[in-house]
Amino acid sequence: MQREQWGSKLGFILAAAGSAIGLGNIWKFPYIAGENGGASFIFVYLICIAIIGLPVLIAEILLGRTTHRNPVGAFKALSKSKLWIGVGGMGVVSGFLILSFYAVIAGWSLGYIFEAIAGNFTIFNTGVLAAEHFNTLVSNLPWIIGYFTLFMLLTMLFVYLGIQKGIERGSKIMMPILFVLLIVLMIRGITLEGSEEGIAFLLHPDWSKINAQAILVALGHAFFTLSLGMGAMLTYGSYMSKNDNIPSAALQIIILDTVIALIAGVAIFTSVFAVGLDPSAGPGLIFHTIPAAFAKMPGGYFFSIIFFILLSIAALTSAISLLEVVVAYFVDELGWDRKIAVIILGFVVFLLGLPSALSFNVLADYTIFGKNFFDIVDFLASNILLPLGGLLISIFVGYIWGFDKVLVNLKEGSQNLFDNYPYIILTWKFFLKYLSPILIFIVLLHSLGILDIIF
Ligand code: PHE
Repeated sequence: MQREQWGSKLGFILAAAGSAIGLGNIWKFPYIAGENGGASFIFVYLICIAIIGLPVLIAEILLGRTTHRNPVGAFKALSKSKLWIGVGGMGVVSGFLILSFYAVIAGWSLGYIFEAIAGNFTIFNTGVLAAEHFNTLVSNLPWIIGYFTLFMLLTMLFVYLGIQKGIERGSKIMMPILFVLLIVLMIRGITLEGSEEGIAFLLHPDWSKINAQAILVALGHAFFTLSLGMGAMLTYGSYMSKNDNIPSAALQIIILDTVIALIAGVAIFTSVFAVGLDPSAGPGLIFHTIPAAFAKMPGGYFFSIIFFILLSIAALTSAISLLEVVVAYFVDELGWDRKIAVIILGFVVFLLGLPSALSFNVLADYTIFGKNFFDIVDFLASNILLPLGGLLISIFVGYIWGFDKVLVNLKEGSQNLFDNYPYIILTWKFFLKYLSPILIFIVLLHSLGILDIIF
């Protein structure tokens, strides 16, 4: 059967931006920026995105587009070595793992849409009350498992319908809605009295907070937010045509991802400060503080519904890309039918996610090194497998594939760039071969705690 392709370049960009823009942008970025020095952190983060994110993103898309395969098939097509094929396999495993816990949090977001509609937030006047409500919900097994299941079914639906009719069409509808909703929320935030304080909190530079730890957080987040290191962008790239310009597509994806994270930060902190709530709730910011912030502002009932719809859309388009990596592997390599693969693999992810969902209630006391099951899977995937995957992908494209072949393939669709701006290509080569591997290696050592032992 012929392998599907994106219907248009815009379709690819929206789908890839959909993968990149997710819980990472709206849930994680604002609170880590707030905790690590505001504008100074954002500055460091932008540098990480530019010198590591962009080069690795181009490398990943290129691997996919050249081979028209899933992560395992892509390495198989370019190398005989089991080691490199194993790197592709690691991507598929990461897809299973990340989706299994990602869908649990996304399920809360879905559940919160209905909480908002039911008006359950309107009574909160402190973040503490909202936090208690959150704790009651996540201890409620039918609630947490029910919305987790619903979210998985939605994700499966889009992947089931295929590249053009499912993922591309879904992204073309959902991404514009996401942009509009976020802009509505930002305008609501900045027009509240006292919102300047929120902007100051996010944008005031505090260089004293920029230490090795903050830089590593920025670098690690660059991977997660751009969906790098596990073959999601590789797989999406594999449905791309040879006429498309990869560097320009990668740049557009990165700009969209970054702008959305910044707007989300502004929307969230202006609201939180304007109503006088504590901005430092960390990971709980979105589920503890935000419902209370909306409860206190004019029109908050509607804005809270909008917020959780927006968060759920962002999570859904990312989850779709995670499931697609896994499905593409079973379809390309093992010859499974897409629809059957979606049903079986979706169910496997569901089973794998159950202990994560239960980590907030019945399994909460089962911990290893102070981490429950959810934390362990999150740490393993986000802090170890993604950077390791990114490191090996940059080494493969930088050294193993053969750089002349890399350039021949990259040139397809971007001849103009090669002719007019050859130094851009040279810079890419330099970053990919030298800077990215070294910096990613340091992040990995940090994740494994090795740096702490040395210093
Ligand atoms: N980029 C997504 C986010 O920011 C998460 C993700 C990671 C998606 C890896 C796919 C692959 O939420």
